[in-house]
Amino acid sequence: MTVYDKISRNLRDLRISVTDRCNFRCRYCMPEEIFDKDYPFLPTERVMSAQEIVRLARLFVSLGVRKLRITGGEPLLRKDLPSIIAELALIPGTEDLSLTTNGSLLASRSKLLKKAGLQRVTVSLDSLEDETFMFMNGGRSRVEPVLAGIEAAKQAGLQVKVNMVVQKGVNDHSVIPMVDYFRGQGIILRMVEYMDVGSTNGWNREQVVSKQELLKMIGEKWPIEPLNPNYTGEVATRYQFKDGMGEVGFISSVSEAFCSTCTRARLSAEGKLYTCLFASRGHDLLEQLRAGKTDEEMTEAIRLIWEGRHDKYSLDRGTHQGDGPRVEMSHIGG
Ligand code: GTP
Ligand code: 5AD
Ligand code: SF4
Ligand code: SF4
Repeated sequence: MTVYDKISRNLRDLRISVTDRCNFRCRYCMPEEIFDKDYPFLPTERVMSAQEIVRLARLFVSLGVRKLRITGGEPLLRKDLPSIIAELALIPGTEDLSLTTNGSLLASRSKLLKKAGLQRVTVSLDSLEDETFMFMNGGRSRVEPVLAGIEAAKQAGLQVKVNMVVQKGVNDHSVIPMVDYFRGQGIILRMVEYMDVGSTNGWNREQVVSKQELLKMIGEKWPIEPLNPNYTGEVATRYQFKDGMGEVGFISSVSEAFCSTCTRARLSAEGKLYTCLFASRGHDLLEQLRAGKTDEEMTEAIRLIWEGRHDKYSLDRGTHQGDGPRVEMSHIGG
């Protein structure tokens, strides 16, 4: 079955957050002044169990979802992650199963994750310099464990991408060293424009380094040319190095919105369905599941939510009136 929203976008991807906790405190996502020891993280009983995650994922696949991505917080903090992955991998219809992680715990888990059926990982890494990286992640990790995680994932046979969030005056000097390092390694580096997600990161437009600026910076050192998307609605725009040393991507939610082809639904760790990264409210699916609704009733509820969807926050950025605090990235995993 295929379901379409109000502007004809089908439901094709599901991003599942398996925890709202993280061992990092990236300033653009979970600033430590706010996400401190008094922050009301979800108690275990309010987080979806492995069984609940798999049941909901199966229902989404029956509605046309083909790509599943596991996110957090930091998904590797969940002990039962390999078994969740193993079950998700068995759902008939799932074509792509991937994980977004900060990489700090990846070195010891890659083999197990691959064996469970994971196909790809995307590791977030914002600099190759300890000083800059630690400034950005709240002093939680040096660069080395993350590079070790990336290497282990590659060795285990997982396809690896790296996401770098670029902030002006913070890590824009790391762009070229990151490109130099990952070029030719079979790892796709994507530069992410700093976004106004959530309500706690103190975002301002001045700190965004746009795709155009990044293209210029990189193109001056390594000539690049555009590539076609891998699939309709791909988040990153792709470019290849003319010398055959691979590709880089740009995720330009601020300067070039890509809402018109957005086929992504997001399930928060507490089982709420968000139809946009910038939504203020989610639809509580877990409550309905726990109240004893049947698969048919749940599928119908999800279908109606998607059919009522008209989100296009990035396209409307600047004119948006705002309807309350937006959901935090750490709840829905970006
Ligand atoms: P692929 O499946 O490899 O194409 O990955 P992806 O780019 O969909 O996922 P990833 O988790 O690597 O996300 C990369 C960045 O893009 C993160 O910063 C996300 O928050 C951001 N992103 C992903 N989807 C959306 C979206 O629908 N809207 C906006 N504004 N940003 C998004
Ligand atoms: N802007 C852009 N990307 C962000 N991420 C987290 N917060 C932001 C933000 N404010 C990225 C992480 C990770 C992905 C899931 O989202 O670095 O790669
Ligand atoms: Fe954790 Fe990722 Fe958010 Fe950083 S961006 S605080 S690693 S969830
Ligand atoms: Fe999709 Fe919302 Fe991102 Fe637009 S802003 S691409 S609608 S998640």
